[in-house]
Amino acid sequence: MQVALVGLGVMGKNLALNLIEQGMTLVAYDKNPDAGAELLSCAQSLGIAERLHIVSDLADMVKRLDTPRSVLLLVPAGELVDKVCQDLIEAGVEKGDIIVDCGNSNYKDGIARKLKYQNKFEFATMGISGGAEGARHGPAMMASGSEGGWERLIPWFEKVAATHNGESCFARVGQSASGHFVKMVHNGIEYALMQLIAEMYQLLRIGTGRTPAQVAEVFKSWSEGPLNSYLLAISSHILSLESDNSEAVVDLIDNKVGAKGTGLWTAQNALELGIAVPSLVAAVQARHLTNTIDTPAAKEMTYAQRATNSVDLDLDELKDAFYFASLLCYRQGLALIKGASRSHQWKVDLDKTLQTWRAGCIIRADYLDDIAKGVEFLDTLEGPANALRKIAGQAIQSGLAFPVLTSTQTYIATLSTPSNGHLVQAQRDYFGEHGIKTHSGESCHLTDLTEIDAKVR
Ligand code: 6PG
Repeated sequence: MQVALVGLGVMGKNLALNLIEQGMTLVAYDKNPDAGAELLSCAQSLGIAERLHIVSDLADMVKRLDTPRSVLLLVPAGELVDKVCQDLIEAGVEKGDIIVDCGNSNYKDGIARKLKYQNKFEFATMGISGGAEGARHGPAMMASGSEGGWERLIPWFEKVAATHNGESCFARVGQSASGHFVKMVHNGIEYALMQLIAEMYQLLRIGTGRTPAQVAEVFKSWSEGPLNSYLLAISSHILSLESDNSEAVVDLIDNKVGAKGTGLWTAQNALELGIAVPSLVAAVQARHLTNTIDTPAAKEMTYAQRATNSVDLDLDELKDAFYFASLLCYRQGLALIKGASRSHQWKVDLDKTLQTWRAGCIIRADYLDDIAKGVEFLDTLEGPANALRKIAGQAIQSGLAFPVLTSTQTYIATLSTPSNGHLVQAQRDYFGEHGIKTHSGESCHLTDLTEIDAKVR
């Protein structure tokens, strides 16, 4: 079967090689001829070039494809996706053909494009995670929609995707553009977990005086057990790296954190949908805050060491707190997906979603099995829950900043302790007469519940 792939950047090139290696015949195009030449040379060195046709224009690409056609887009998200879709229409793509947007597109654009192109071709969306390495050897693939063209592609994606216990990490998770929503939330969780690990590092480094290499050892020991995850493993590796002058490599890196936008979209969507994901929002804002600090890493460190208190940590408690906080970051992301699915009627399957995250993606972790057990499982984790509370308290005492750790503790505390919402409702009614509801469900005003009507002026 012939499939076309447009966009031979890092992800496109590696996915192309993966697909060809699995037996697919690929027609590939990139507006930069060097990218095509590079892919061809990689395919030649792997001995698979006979199944690769590099074309120099989209008309030639369309002509070479069997009908109905299948085209994968791996171009940067945004206007370029529409530009390529338009060019493909002009090149001859027609009804019955499928175009799959495999970039990090905003799901709202996906919904709009489905509508826009419905009479031209089938527009489908798929989020891909795992970076270059994943695309080359097995990514996580979060697809969506019920376009007929999927049937032609699914067997290939099931083959190229990562596997976990023999099961593919490709899935059509739900309707419409929900695949891109799921990938967006994947990235929101990714931001939170990265920040949480950075906070563990800082607590161990500044709070207990460990060197980066010693923190690397702590993370390594955690990785050897059920806490093993991709992000923890790479963090341990990064912290163990030293320059030629035996300096920790992390100390040579500027503290300002970049972002391409998917974490921010996650936070924005959660706020719009009214679904609380405080740890995910805190991680986005933590990145923003790094851009307001204008001092080099080493200087900040000296200042921090002067300004903070050392902490007497129990490493087992820290590990438990980290485990519990990590579970809660995933839970918030899943709650967001569930809420969005309900609002948009996407019918997202959370088990399938979790299956796509089990291998190949950036947030893969051995404890995803625990997350699959559902929210009830969290209730059984009294020890880790207590550890999170204690560690969050100690972290605050250190004087350092722990936005994700403390937001996560606040999240679980809010869900599991008496609420104070009644007072806020009363305040709203007091000055705005917005109305309140009593425990028996009766709608009324504060003044209906009391004889006292003197107001504070
Ligand atoms: C992945 C990653 C990948 C990328 C994101 C986040 O799943 O492979 O999430 O998509 O790292 O674009 O990047 P930023 O941190 O720059 O927002």
